[in-house]
Amino acid sequence: MKRRSFLKGLAAAGVVLPTGAWFPSCSADKPEGLSWDFDKVIDRFGSWSIKYGRLEDLGEKGSTKLSMWIADMDFMTDPLVSKALRDRVDNYVLGYTRTPVEFLDSVVSWEKRMHGYDVAREWVAPCPGVIASLNQAYLTFTEPGDTIVLQTPVYDHFRIYIEKMGRIPVENPLIEENGHYRMDFDGLERIFEEGSKVLVLCNPQNPVGILWDKETLSTLAGICERHGVMVFSDEIHSDLTLRGRKHIPFCSVSEAAARVGLIFGSPTKSFNFAGLSGTAWCIIPDREKREKLLGTLEKSKLDEPSIMSLTATIAAYSHEPVWLDAVKEYIQGNLDLVYDFFKDNDLGIKAVMPEASFLIWLDCRSLGLSQAELMSRFSDDAGIILNDGISYGTGGEGFVRMNVGCPRSVVEEALSRIRKTFG
Ligand SMILES: Cc1ncc(COP(=O)(O)O)c(C=O)c1O
Repeated sequence: MKRRSFLKGLAAAGVVLPTGAWFPSCSADKPEGLSWDFDKVIDRFGSWSIKYGRLEDLGEKGSTKLSMWIADMDFMTDPLVSKALRDRVDNYVLGYTRTPVEFLDSVVSWEKRMHGYDVAREWVAPCPGVIASLNQAYLTFTEPGDTIVLQTPVYDHFRIYIEKMGRIPVENPLIEENGHYRMDFDGLERIFEEGSKVLVLCNPQNPVGILWDKETLSTLAGICERHGVMVFSDEIHSDLTLRGRKHIPFCSVSEAAARVGLIFGSPTKSFNFAGLSGTAWCIIPDREKREKLLGTLEKSKLDEPSIMSLTATIAAYSHEPVWLDAVKEYIQGNLDLVYDFFKDNDLGIKAVMPEASFLIWLDCRSLGLSQAELMSRFSDDAGIILNDGISYGTGGEGFVRMNVGCPRSVVEEALSRIRKTFG
């Protein structure tokens, strides 16, 4: 039987067939009927969430606490992403899957539209999660016992996994002045003279919320190149820029940056689907470095993302960022509430307003508490689970990180509890 009449027969029998396009087609506009409600409190207990699992483990004691720590949001994902996932499950065979060119093109087009960065398709590759990919990059470009430089306070999983990979994290703390942070270039020069091969850059910086400017990034690239140091730039928070600010991709700032830099990114933070692991990508302009890392991924069979992560990424990146703009505006409202609350209430706590993302860094140093006391006041007295500043390395003592990617009513409740506890 000819293929066409075979397919016709199936259709006549009521069998649903794919559209024929490799990926279900998506329009650039928000389809009618799709909506979101960021105010809605969604019960995540019992949903396998890590954020709420910590409360579940506390049993009765955890049930009234607010979970404002690990960096995912309490919102449903962009309805266009869930629609694409549903279409895929309903209409396609979930067999072994190769990465389609649409995935690479969606990253290229997204970087151009969002960040004005011209990326060649061959620079892009799918990656397992950002941390898993950084780990593979440590294995590829460094030896056991080598040092890797971090500018603290910075995302704690960098240090944790550098150590698990048998490498040694070395801190070059950021310089803080009145809530403003900058890189310590003299410190870097000193450390590099002792022979590090890699610096991990957090761009934008979590937990401090900084969008690094072009001058800082070009200076960093120049110093690194002079010392033969590669820069692994984690840009996972880059789409969550606030108040119309611009993110600058590290490799875009200069030829030196393109030579020394590897960018790792992912839509999982911005579109809130971190549970779809294996959803990340890298941009590596330098051919030799790219081929080396991709060789490592291929050898470990880490070069085949799941059909769901491919579908979600393409869906997220193939539309105008209507949902993303809306969620950012909502996040900004939450951040303003927290910032103004601490400005207007003299509780001994100051908020550092982030330039990107839904995490706010709270400076509690003037309370004069030990870190253990501070965490206990938030967790046991106020009933709010936050991230401990000290986990982010030197410069984190006396701080906590609060996640406001949640309904406004939760933020209001947290602030009311904080007033009672610290007032
Ligand atoms: C800066 C940064 N990088 C990476 C991650 C985790 O990325 P992945 O889940 O892709 O490993 C996080 C999560 O909080 C993060 O804040």
